[in-house]
Amino acid sequence: MTDLLNSLTRAVHGVVRSDAAEILRVDHDASHLTGHALAVVAPRDPDDVVALVRWAREHGVPLVPRGAGTSLDGESVPMAGGVVVDLSGWNRVMEILEDERLARVGPGTVNRDLQAALAPHGLFFPPNPGSWTVSTIGGHVGTNASGPRSFRYGPTRSWVRSLEAVLGTGERVGWGGRAAKRAVGPDLLSLFVGSEGTLGITTEVTVRLAPLPAIREALVVDLPDGGPLAPVAAALARARGTGLAAVEYLDRACAAELAGPQGFDHRRDGPLLLLEIEAEDLTEARARRERVGEVLRRVGVVTEPTVYDDADVLWTLRGRAGVALDERLGHRIREDVAVPLAAIDPLVVELERISALEHVPLYLFGHLGEGNLHPNYAVDPESSSGLRVRAAVLAASSALGGTISAEHGIGAIKAPFLEREIGTPGVEVLRALKRVCDPDGILNPGKLYPSPRE
Ligand code: LAC
Ligand code: ZN
Repeated sequence: MTDLLNSLTRAVHGVVRSDAAEILRVDHDASHLTGHALAVVAPRDPDDVVALVRWAREHGVPLVPRGAGTSLDGESVPMAGGVVVDLSGWNRVMEILEDERLARVGPGTVNRDLQAALAPHGLFFPPNPGSWTVSTIGGHVGTNASGPRSFRYGPTRSWVRSLEAVLGTGERVGWGGRAAKRAVGPDLLSLFVGSEGTLGITTEVTVRLAPLPAIREALVVDLPDGGPLAPVAAALARARGTGLAAVEYLDRACAAELAGPQGFDHRRDGPLLLLEIEAEDLTEARARRERVGEVLRRVGVVTEPTVYDDADVLWTLRGRAGVALDERLGHRIREDVAVPLAAIDPLVVELERISALEHVPLYLFGHLGEGNLHPNYAVDPESSSGLRVRAAVLAASSALGGTISAEHGIGAIKAPFLEREIGTPGVEVLRALKRVCDPDGILNPGKLYPSPRE
């Protein structure tokens, strides 16, 4: 062990740590899983990453890239041991190209810091996962993260123009580029986004940016308890002239968790709809708010919305939904499914049926406008009941034409379910890609799909 660590220390320039506190930190992410890291390396530059990969290949040691460790399905947990590659120090906005609306950033750049750097230029980076105050752009790329604003803007994949990475072979690659368009066959950049560190280690990302709206107004609307959700989602999704960027849902139990002095201005006990409207001036904001009101009234939602002028406050609060449930429930099932809008209510019925059948309380919130719901069940995910609940939730989503992961990724937790979604030929294509990019299977083994070594 000491010999291995000594050779690692000699192989790289970056800091190598193996003290108990650091190992404890990187053995966890936001999932319930625990890994067993041998060491943590903070590489100094891309050449250092190349040296690290070569060392790992030579010694057959797994490498697990990590940003802020907010992944929810074990993506950054060293399940097979090995060395965690801590990229959180690479938190630099290297260049902002206003005219081209691009920013070149280090993979450790925190979403909130990027937004702060962009705001003076009148620009922003649209993906805003619940963890946006701490999570990193490299992590967003790894899991194709999204969040409330994907209602209007789509996930990280739509906002990456190019990236640089070191493959599991030790080769440096740059995929994509400055040009706004390219039609050069299958999109390697797109394949890399969402690959959860199983193909390469991202060393630089060029993200696309959107013009920052002059006004972001957040609305909190009380929803009738137990009313159908699909008509609300569909009406808001197809309405014109609303400037809606986000359409979020909190059921009664989740809304109650976020109420109180530091929480939402919550008029009565019941489910909530959270909306974000973009506008260029106050007149436009008012017109758009009224338009949203009309659309909602037509689907039976008649309560007046509460207006939040600072949408960041609302999204920070909303992002705490998961944290509030962590505090109340601890380890639990935290799912992330998405179905076609028309299937939202049948999905909710099924989620409630699973809750009743297994006698486990359900807490439901999510990105309603995209049919993306996060069913949380107060049950130990490793218990037999927990395993049944997860399998039933994923099966329900698939049966309704949905997906087993809308935005959190597959990680270690959902790897056993991947084949059901993409089929055996799909898994074979991914395995072939893995063999080419990471022939020794050193990169994040056990995630996404079983590594070739297993
Ligand atoms: C959210 C995370 C759990 O929506 O995806 O808060
Ligand atoms: Zn979410």
